[in-house]
Amino acid sequence: MNDYLQNSTLRTLLKTLNIPVPVPPILKRNLSAYSDDELKAKKIAVAGKETEFLHQLQKEFHPKVDNATVYDEKLDGLVVSCVGMQTIEDLEDLYTTVKNTASKINANGRVVIISRIDDATALSYSVQKSIDGFSRALSKEIGGKKGVTVNQLKITNTNVMPFETANAAFFFLSDKSSFITGQVVEVGNAFSASFSSPEKLLQDKIAIVTGGARGIGAATAKVLHREGAKVIIVDVPFAKEDAEKLAQELNGDVILEDITDAKATADIQQYILNNYKGLDILVNNAGITRDKTIAKMSIDQWRGVLNVNLKAMVNLTETFIEKGFNEHAKVVGLSSISGIAGNVGQTNYSLTKAGVIGFTKALATRNTKLYANAVAPGFIETKMTENLPFFVKEGGRRLSTLKQGGLPEDVAELIGFLSSPLSDGINGQCLRVCGGSMIGA
Ligand SMILES: NC(=O)c1ccc[n+]([C@@H]2O[C@H](COP(=O)([O-])OP(=O)(O)OC[C@H]3O[C@@H](n4cnc5c(N)ncnc54)[C@H](O)[C@@H]3O)[C@@H](O)[C@H]2O)c1
Repeated sequence: MNDYLQNSTLRTLLKTLNIPVPVPPILKRNLSAYSDDELKAKKIAVAGKETEFLHQLQKEFHPKVDNATVYDEKLDGLVVSCVGMQTIEDLEDLYTTVKNTASKINANGRVVIISRIDDATALSYSVQKSIDGFSRALSKEIGGKKGVTVNQLKITNTNVMPFETANAAFFFLSDKSSFITGQVVEVGNAFSASFSSPEKLLQDKIAIVTGGARGIGAATAKVLHREGAKVIIVDVPFAKEDAEKLAQELNGDVILEDITDAKATADIQQYILNNYKGLDILVNNAGITRDKTIAKMSIDQWRGVLNVNLKAMVNLTETFIEKGFNEHAKVVGLSSISGIAGNVGQTNYSLTKAGVIGFTKALATRNTKLYANAVAPGFIETKMTENLPFFVKEGGRRLSTLKQGGLPEDVAELIGFLSSPLSDGINGQCLRVCGGSMIGA
C-alpha cells in the first residue's frame, strides 16, 4: 500500500504539529477464515420495528450476537429492521433507534439496515424506498471519521427468510467488509440453503480466477483457498512466475493462457472436465485499461480492452454454461465504478465495465441454475492504479466517505462472500466496494 496518509509516522507528525489535514481512519480488517467467533466477539444489537420478522431475525443471530435493545453501552454493530414500516409515522422508529445509538457506535462499527419492498400501497412503497436515502446519508454522516460502515439489505421478495437476511448481514457486520459503505443490496431468494456454521464455507469447491497472478485476482485466490476451495489461476504466459509461485502456496493449479486467444476458453473448459467434476466458482477478474480520450484512442486500444474485459469474459462464462458448471455455481464479474459513473479517457473501459453489470443481470435472470453477481471496486491500491498521476490518485482516494483507497483484500473478501452460501439470497446485483466513493454515487 502506498497511501502516505496511512503512514503512522506521518500521521503522528501531522497531529503533533497540529497541521489541519483530515487523516483517514485506520480500517480494521479481518483477513482470517470465517468463523462464528468473529461476531461473538462483538457487541451487536438487533432492533427496529416490532414485527414477527424482527423477532425471528433476533433468533437467527442468537447466540452469535447479543440481542440487547437497551443502549447503555458502546456497540460494535447495530442491525435495524424497518420491515413492516408502511407510513411516514412508522419511520419514527428508525429515527429513534438510530438517534439513540449513533453516538454509541465504536470506531470500525457496522450498521446494517434491513428494509423490505412493500407495494401494498404507493405510500408503503415510497416509505420503504425512502430508507435508501436515509442509509446513504447516515453512512456519510457517521462513517468518515471512525471508519463506521452503514449498509442496507433490501428484501425484494416476501419469501425471503430471516436466515437468508442474517447470512448476508453476517458479512456486513464483520471486519471483512470494512471498505464497503453506503450500499443498498437487494436480497431476493433463489435456492438458498440454511447452514449452521460459516466455517470452511467453500470446502471442496472448484474455483477459477482469471487474472489471478497478481492484484485483486491474487488476493481473491487466497481468500477462496482460505475458505477451502481448490483454486485454478488463469493468467497470461508472461505472468508465469507469479502465477506458479502463488499456485504452489495455495496448492492450486495454473493455466497459462491469454483468455482472448481463440482456443483459450475451450482449453480451460477441457482442463476442468479432465481434472474435476465441474466448476463451482468462476471469478471473471482479468481486466486491462488502455486510457485515451476517444479522439486519440486507436482501434487497437478500443479492441484490446473490449476483447479482454468483455468478449473473453462472456465467452468463458458461456462455454461453462454450455458444459462444465456444477449446479448453483457462482459467477462473479469485475466491474468498476468507472462503469457506473464513466471516466474521462476511459470510454472503452467504462463501456466494458457497464457491460459486465448487464451480463451479470442477464445471467441471473436467464439461468435458474447459477448465481451471478458483479463487484464494482472504487479506487484500489494495485499495480493498475500505482502509475496514475498524483492528483488523479488523490481524487480517487479522498473523494469518498472513508477518505482512502481500498486494498485488493477488500475486493477479494467481497468476492469470497459472493462465491459462498452466505450470499445465497443475492443474485444479479452489482455491489460496490469503494469506501463510499462520491464518484457515481
Ligand atoms: N485496481 C482498481 O482500482 C480497480 C478498480 C475497479 C475495477 N478493477 C478491476 O479489477 C480487476 C483486477 O484489477 P487489478 O487492479 O488487480 O489489475 P492488475 O493489472 O493488477 O491485474 C490484472 C491481471 O489480469 C491479467 N490479465 C490481463 N489480461 C489478461 C488476459 N488477456 N488473459 C489472462 N489474464 C489477463 C494480468 O496478467 C494480471 O495478472 C480488473 O478487471 C479491473 O478492471 C480494478
